[in-house]
Amino acid sequence: MSTAVVLVAAGRGERLAAGAPKALVPVGGRPLLAWALDAVLASGCADRVVVVAPPDPVGLAAVVALAGDVVPGALVVAGGDTRQASVAAGLAKLPDDVDVVLVHDAARALAPPELFTQVAAAVRVGRPAVVPAVPVTDTVRRVRGGVVDRTALRAVQTPQGFARDALVEAHAAGAGGAGGAPVTDDAGLVERCGLAVHLVPGHPEAFKVTTPLDLALAEAVVARRATRSAGSPP
Ligand code: CTP
Ligand code: MG
Repeated sequence: MSTAVVLVAAGRGERLAAGAPKALVPVGGRPLLAWALDAVLASGCADRVVVVAPPDPVGLAAVVALAGDVVPGALVVAGGDTRQASVAAGLAKLPDDVDVVLVHDAARALAPPELFTQVAAAVRVGRPAVVPAVPVTDTVRRVRGGVVDRTALRAVQTPQGFARDALVEAHAAGAGGAGGAPVTDDAGLVERCGLAVHLVPGHPEAFKVTTPLDLALAEAVVARRATRSAGSPP
């Protein structure tokens, strides 16, 4: 019985347009992936770490070096064309003893360690799929008219936690994108297989770095953490 974190870092970062795969773009002088690996390590809940890297030789070599530095023993595997394919590549590398899997976006590099712990704990008590989620703060309107009741909505984050068998089965069933609307996260795939998705409170610092503005926010969060750990008042 052990817990694995599959950290997906194979995306190209087209919307960030920083000239490198997003996971390798620096914040506070360190690549986003390094911050994400720090949080995984600090959570203490990962017996195994699988990093899914950009498949090009340069990106792959950079991730192998970085992962080996921060988490000795981490496995690194080349990703696919879509996030779903990259997660599947990571799942294919899981050792046999793993029964709980947390899937995390390297792009959510500043998700705090406690979030990993809380998600893993909820899976351990028997939830097959656990997702951190936060209230929607904008007013949301349908393109064809009508404001949506946002009190019934949540924006979902990662890490998302799963019973391994449920996640592997959902990926096998969802391979090739057969049937239904496109699914953008793993919990969506598991739900399609008829399992309930359990929500736990998300965290504002688990935001996804998608655009240059998000990168500026990440810089500010890292700077604030450095100030706090130096002992200055908040
Ligand atoms: N991801 C991945 N493999 C892909 C696509 C995405 O591992 N083929 C990962 C990204 O590295 C990221 C997470 O999935 O950590 C969320 O994806 P997203 O924010 O869309 O990242 P990118 O695909 O890199 O960005 P963009 O869509 O702007 O190109
Ligand atoms: Mg993408």
